[in-house]
Amino acid sequence: MRQEDRDHIVNLFPSIRQIGDDGIREKVIRAWYNAWKQGNFPRIEDVHQFEPARDHIAYTNVDHTNQVCRACEQMGEILAALLNLRLNRDYLLAGAVLHDVDKMVIFDARSGGLTERGRRLPHAVMGAAMAREEGLPEEIAHVIGAHSFKYSPAPPSTIEALLVRHLDHVVAQSYYLSKGLDMEKILAQSTGRNP
Ligand SMILES: [Fe+2]
Ligand SMILES: [Fe+2]
Repeated sequence: MRQEDRDHIVNLFPSIRQIGDDGIREKVIRAWYNAWKQGNFPRIEDVHQFEPARDHIAYTNVDHTNQVCRACEQMGEILAALLNLRLNRDYLLAGAVLHDVDKMVIFDARSGGLTERGRRLPHAVMGAAMAREEGLPEEIAHVIGAHSFKYSPAPPSTIEALLVRHLDHVVAQSYYLSKGLDMEKILAQSTGRNP
């Protein structure tokens, strides 16, 4: 990986700098880099929060990911204080930064529909597999793999995973509501590209 690619990824996702463990931070950067190289989007910034509806939304996966990271950081602190908990900040941040990394490989930049890989493994499950491939701890793979209400095979078993799952949903749905977008309708209009 070239230094400029590494710097670019860290600049795209500022929460990476907050990860305390050097090994985890490096593997998170590498996971984004490899996802970018394995997919066919020219830039990481080109993927939408929901690619099949890209004609209807201007909401990028990078913006969405950063919003989820910030929500998780702040809610994590609130929850830790309220319940006197010790959360693993690295697991929470790494999981939030990578929760939608697999969108780079499950979606096809040309069609906006699923790739061959995306048809083999669903969203979230694919992301968890990609985290494991990088050698990230299982706790982080769990945060990623359990984040989706629709695709995750099992619910969260840790508070870090619970935070990412619910705040991802709140952030994305709040975006769509604030824009007056009816996602059910948009999904229906995207038929043919709808996974
Ligand atoms: Fe997701
Ligand atoms: Fe998400």
